[in-house]
Amino acid sequence: MTTTTANTQGPELTAAERELLVRAAVLAPSMHNTQPWLFGFRHRTVEVHRDVTRELTAEDPDGRLTLIGVGAAVLNLRVAAATLALRTTTVLLPDTCRPTLAARLTLGTGSGEGTELAGLFPSIPRRRTNRHPFTDHAIEPAVRHELAQAAAAESARLYWANDRQVRWLQHLATDADHAEQHDLHRIVERGCWVGGERHHDGVPLASLGPRSADVPSPVRDLAVDPADRARATARFEDHPQLAVLATAEDSPRSWLVAGQALQRVLLLATRHGLAASLLNQLIEHEELRELLYDPGAGPTAPQAVLRLGRGRDVPSTPRRPVEAFVLHDDETP
Ligand SMILES: Cc1cc2nc3c(=O)[nH]c(=O)nc-3n(C[C@H](O)[C@H](O)[C@H](O)COP(=O)(O)O)c2cc1C
Repeated sequence: MTTTTANTQGPELTAAERELLVRAAVLAPSMHNTQPWLFGFRHRTVEVHRDVTRELTAEDPDGRLTLIGVGAAVLNLRVAAATLALRTTTVLLPDTCRPTLAARLTLGTGSGEGTELAGLFPSIPRRRTNRHPFTDHAIEPAVRHELAQAAAAESARLYWANDRQVRWLQHLATDADHAEQHDLHRIVERGCWVGGERHHDGVPLASLGPRSADVPSPVRDLAVDPADRARATARFEDHPQLAVLATAEDSPRSWLVAGQALQRVLLLATRHGLAASLLNQLIEHEELRELLYDPGAGPTAPQAVLRLGRGRDVPSTPRRPVEAFVLHDDETP
């Protein structure tokens, strides 16, 4: 997919510009905060690779979640470029002979992708996954519509679940949670990434939020360590507000599209003062995912289930140092 066309003439990007771009990109969400991306710079292009050493074989055998996270990082790069008034041309999966290469962004001179994307820049460091209870304050219809438009601007579709669908989605999510408690491969993998103290990656205990006192729960409890599972409970909102993000097709390219759309929706939600978390167990289990296809919506493939609302502030999750993500010329795959 190509977004806008950049004039590729212009001076080399400065070190400060490169750093701003990478710092913004790595604040994107990723499953279990694996941060599965690497960036290589050549003149005025940024190549975005998936980091094959950080893939989740149990949770994500097809690589969908990895590429959604990489797509979210691409959106952050585009937002950061827009804020530097750079015009971006984005090509997804530009070279089949280089399988880790997910996207190539060319940053030209001239006006950027527009004030709309640049306006999301302050939300990049403020956005976070919030697994705490939200209030029952209903999101205004105009804001729901704006969020759906943000997804549409990235060639994806965001559809809101009604009360009956919400209850049904929650029950499906609970079934998946129960099944996952007996999935040894997932449990071992989560043990590597979730819970306890984490300083560079993974999901620390402090970000897990309380357990839900009620079943079904509107949040996914990713904890596996008995000490983390014994944390306090809380009552969550009676009327969770859930939306499904879907793409026209279901392929690695669509997952990158979904990641960009997801991040655009999340950044806009942050700008509106909304909190968000994900109920991705509904996507990870194919038999449940099949049930999310909306027959009235034409060809759409569900890629994420979002919970949105108003919530308390939560701490940020850690990131590795920015140098860890930058490929040097001799390392470029
Ligand atoms: C594709 C994808 C799927 C995710 N699925 C879940 C999920 O099912 N449950 C959850 O609590 N968080 C989920 N997350 C959120 C990540 O755990 C979170 O982004 C990561 O820990 C970094 O934290 P941050 O979002 O606060 O920066 C998902 C993120 C991505 C990109």
